[in-house]
Amino acid sequence: QYKCFIFDMDGVITETSEQHYQAWKQCADELGIDIDRTFNEKLKGVSRMDSLERILAYGNRSHDFTAEEKAELAYKKNENYKEMILKCTEDDLFEGVKELFEGLKEKGIKIAIGSASKNAPTLVNLLGIKDYIDYIVDPASVEKGKPAPDIFLKAAHDLGIDPSACVGVEDAEAGVEAIKSAGMLAVGIGEASVLHQADMVYAHTKDIQLADIL
Ligand code: G6P
Ligand code: MG
Repeated sequence: QYKCFIFDMDGVITETSEQHYQAWKQCADELGIDIDRTFNEKLKGVSRMDSLERILAYGNRSHDFTAEEKAELAYKKNENYKEMILKCTEDDLFEGVKELFEGLKEKGIKIAIGSASKNAPTLVNLLGIKDYIDYIVDPASVEKGKPAPDIFLKAAHDLGIDPSACVGVEDAEAGVEAIKSAGMLAVGIGEASVLHQADMVYAHTKDIQLADIL
């Protein structure tokens, strides 16, 4: 019997993975590194600094910047991103999310947010879903980001629920890997060919069938 659903945020609850991509694209363009959407799949679910490192490595520029310069690049990306999400409202919630949350609440199943994003609490407020959420993992409180299981295990631990009674919902390859390493059921959102490690994959969050999972 599942007692908790741990949702990734960007790309699962709302389409902010697009804003992350646009903000990174702008950063990469300024560095003369050409990134595209295929490469971006490798950035989904990956922390801010790790994303920057991946972009620099992709452009063979890993050793061109000091730690301070890298921190500045990441800071600029985040300022740009924050400006992009400023206008987010309840209307930006993916279709079906509220209904899904209602369904889980009715069954007494806890809802947690397991995002690598330090902006998750801000978005939860902007999207007007705060009252549904039992717990938001602070990604700064865990040692390793996705694909390590830490973020998902932290949610289970702090809610006092065994990982085997948790379901993780993810749109990222790194995220699905994290859920499986945590010993949880992995629900993928997107393409089955990309999320091949997931136990089940739905194209969109609104396609999730609770009856199939529970
Ligand atoms: C999520 C997104 C990533 C993003 C990461 C960190 O996992 O999928 O694209 O890099 O969060 O987000 P932050 O808002 O802390 O920069
Ligand atoms: Mg995501």
